[in-house]
Amino acid sequence: NKVVLAYSGGLDTSIIVPWLKQNYGNPEVICYCANLGQADELTGLEEKAKASGASKCYVEDLREEFVRDFLFPMLQSGAIYERLYLLGTSVARPLIAKRQAEIALQEGADALAHGCTGKGNDQVRFEVTYMAFAPHMQAIVPWREWNIRSREDALDYAAEHNVPVTATLKSIYSRDRNIWHISHEGGVLEDPWNEPEEDMYTLSVSPENAPDKPEYVEVGFEQGVPVSVNRERLGPVALLNALNELGAKHGIGRIDLVENRLVGMKSHGVYETPGGTILRTAHQGLEQLTLDRETMHYKDVVAHRYAELIYNGLWYTPLREALQAFFTSTQQNVTGEVRLKLYKGNAMLVGRKAAASLYNPDIASFTMGETYNQKDAEGFIKIFGLPVKVRALVDGK
Ligand code: ARG
Ligand code: SIN
Repeated sequence: NKVVLAYSGGLDTSIIVPWLKQNYGNPEVICYCANLGQADELTGLEEKAKASGASKCYVEDLREEFVRDFLFPMLQSGAIYERLYLLGTSVARPLIAKRQAEIALQEGADALAHGCTGKGNDQVRFEVTYMAFAPHMQAIVPWREWNIRSREDALDYAAEHNVPVTATLKSIYSRDRNIWHISHEGGVLEDPWNEPEEDMYTLSVSPENAPDKPEYVEVGFEQGVPVSVNRERLGPVALLNALNELGAKHGIGRIDLVENRLVGMKSHGVYETPGGTILRTAHQGLEQLTLDRETMHYKDVVAHRYAELIYNGLWYTPLREALQAFFTSTQQNVTGEVRLKLYKGNAMLVGRKAAASLYNPDIASFTMGETYNQKDAEGFIKIFGLPVKVRALVDGK
């Protein structure tokens, strides 16, 4: 009798350890935690897990894989959920759940457990991914079973079962952090009229407190993959960390959103995605030069579907994979440099260049050129506008 639990060291996942023992016939509980760049929350994790009653605790550094195989491909797609959300939590869950399921199979476990509530998106993302990698394994979801209804209940349960609770666990917000973003939900945010206090923000300074002087940064791409910052070549993790630091310093990437969850309700969240916001702006700048119109417009249509798939936890599905193959194929010529000006909450695109740029000054220029003959426009407009003309004539105009 063995359960592998997706463990963060937070209050909820900590009390799940004794709860599983009490309610599922005293199983061996193995904790699994993926390091996706959540920083400080990882220190002392193994000790904490064992103090809560776990037999062991895996902590794996998956940052490189996360950035290379999840974040950068998503960046190429241009996916964004409901106009603003850069999908930082959504895109992380499949990787965590996949590794958790693989470890459960290796360990010969009977069940997988997670600490998501029964009201959110994350439960779906975890369990759908379990289905993809360990289709026969049971999922145990304490939040859908137990009587714990509040943080106070959870703290009481922790005290009763000698689960160590550190000060950071007492935060009123529900948060999720990784190398791409941090999300804040709950607390004062439950009223969507409330502006969050400044001290809620964790990664970035406010635009008001950002430097009064703009700072320029250059980002280099190869086939739609970011490879350099200020002409220094960096690996995926170092590159994203460098842009996070710059973005945070200039108050970039804060958004406040009321979103539609897959489970039907609306919820209010605030997100900080400093480096990701810079990358998104930069990537778009390069696509402006290198994508032909038809590809770009079509890509934007399906990016919308792609965002829904990611948000809804359908990462490991044939459609998601096929769409990614399409996006990646569009990135063939998305190679070049982008220059941005960072200033008080804004990452402004101020320059782009690409070897395979389709922008041709000779054609676009207001001075007469050879390739584009303005006389050709006359016939083009007559035919292009024909339906408009016919309709006006029929209407008796
Ligand atoms: N609403 C966002 C999403 O669905 C963030 C969820 C944050 N999750 C959490 N366990 N705090 O992707
Ligand atoms: C949760 O309910 O566990 C967090 C929020 C979400 O999954 O949407």
